Amino acid sequence: MDVRHQISPLDNLSALTADALLVVIAGESIDSALDARLAAPLNDAIAQGDLQLKAGRSLYLHRATGVKVRRVLACVASGATVKGFKAAVLAGLNQLKGSGARHVVVAGVGFGALNDAHAEAAVTAAGDALYVYRHTKPSAPPASVLSKLTLVCSKPEAAAVQAGLVRGRAVAAGVGLAREMGNRPGNHCTPTYLANQAKKLGKDHGLAVEVLDRKDVEKLGMGSFLAVAQGSDEPLRFIVARYQGAAKTQAPVVLVGKGITFDTGGISIKPAGEMDEMKYDMGGAASVLGTLRAIAELKPKLNLVVIVPSCENMPDARAVKPGDVVTSMSGQTIEILNTDAEGRLILCDALTYAERFKPAVVVDVATLTGACVVALGHHNSGLFSPDDALAADLLAASATALDPLWRMPLDEEYAEGLKSNFADMGNVGGRPGGAIMAALFLKKFTSKYRWAHLDIAGTAWKSGAAKGSTGRPVPLLTHFVLAQAR
Ligand code: BES
Ligand code: MN
Ligand code: ZN
Repeated sequence: MDVRHQISPLDNLSALTADALLVVIAGESIDSALDARLAAPLNDAIAQGDLQLKAGRSLYLHRATGVKVRRVLACVASGATVKGFKAAVLAGLNQLKGSGARHVVVAGVGFGALNDAHAEAAVTAAGDALYVYRHTKPSAPPASVLSKLTLVCSKPEAAAVQAGLVRGRAVAAGVGLAREMGNRPGNHCTPTYLANQAKKLGKDHGLAVEVLDRKDVEKLGMGSFLAVAQGSDEPLRFIVARYQGAAKTQAPVVLVGKGITFDTGGISIKPAGEMDEMKYDMGGAASVLGTLRAIAELKPKLNLVVIVPSCENMPDARAVKPGDVVTSMSGQTIEILNTDAEGRLILCDALTYAERFKPAVVVDVATLTGACVVALGHHNSGLFSPDDALAADLLAASATALDPLWRMPLDEEYAEGLKSNFADMGNVGGRPGGAIMAALFLKKFTSKYRWAHLDIAGTAWKSGAAKGSTGRPVPLLTHFVLAQAR
């Protein structure tokens, strides 16, 4: 997507040339600053009841008198917020993407001066509107011809808007990559595929990418990760990708993503209904790789390490059984009481592996628990951290990225149920507070650094008619990592 800004006053929009003009409206009335040639038909439509200034309403004008742009679409936002602006741009582009318009100019009316946040929102909305999954469905509707987006702004904001466009393009590319990986079915998106995607990222952006196989992982003593992988014929991969934007001596930000490319539950097998959605159980991996892509494009002055333990969770004659005890890389033993609580078993060894980087901070991202979906639904991802400052940074990144996140408790009292008579811990501890117990299990492997855990079980993908990956939380993570550079 070609994204630009154009300095223009709102009272001169009728003179702009493009294939379409998307006017996003906020407020109780049409801002008097708007070009009269556009304001007149809009105000007439309002007076006639053809356009209501209510969120989600829109009006299309074709070859409006005195307006150079052939197609004008006015979309009403829920309010003069960046969130309202983004939703209206998304709705507008969804409407325009089927037209012949290649170049769309976006203008905000009633928002005051547009800034970098609006610019980023417009570009990420475009990415969301234009993404089409076609890898295993070549008959999907052809890609939209919409390929150029220009944002109208005023001169004092031009530099900020341009920076927002650049950031938006990187975030959108990261989200797009994560969505594509997530949507590919389990027989295509295997651990080997994820590793190859990481290698490709490395080649394209000059990153150091290391891929460990089963033998390497055995040498490292990752008995917990190995236990999950042992039921599958699909070879495991342990991916380590590094972006270096600062001195080698600077402690890196480390992101760890759960890369279960299919979760049957193993011997503790899941019911058949919706089991197909467990191809999305690599959403954490997809989001950290998508974030790496965004960061590699934006080149902030910091170091970033991305770690992805990846395998399938399958039932098999050789699969791990309930009651089996394994030794994790940390030396702590684990009684695997439920083979379906496999995410924490692969993450704990990755979290121990992360110690070697002497990280400034570690954030793991995982489609970890159905309990998190029960607690937060599909809007907020769950945040778990004993570190208040780190939690505040993640919540701030969530707010600026428009990628909702909610902090959950992490009191040690919840960990009571993880006690085992046969190992240092069990991998499950009863249903109540299940998302918290999973986080407390992970916490036992994070004593050497600052740490937070994001449970994205409810937010990584959508079910039903709109089934598909969301690419979340790439926007949140990208903003979080960028903020660590300052
Ligand atoms: N990948 C699932 C979590 C999940 C389930 C995400 C449904 C989204 C929708 C995870 O591996 C899992 O199976 N967790 C179990 C844990 C339980 C056995 C303690 C769960 O949530 O049921
Ligand atoms: Mn599971
Ligand atoms: Zn899982």
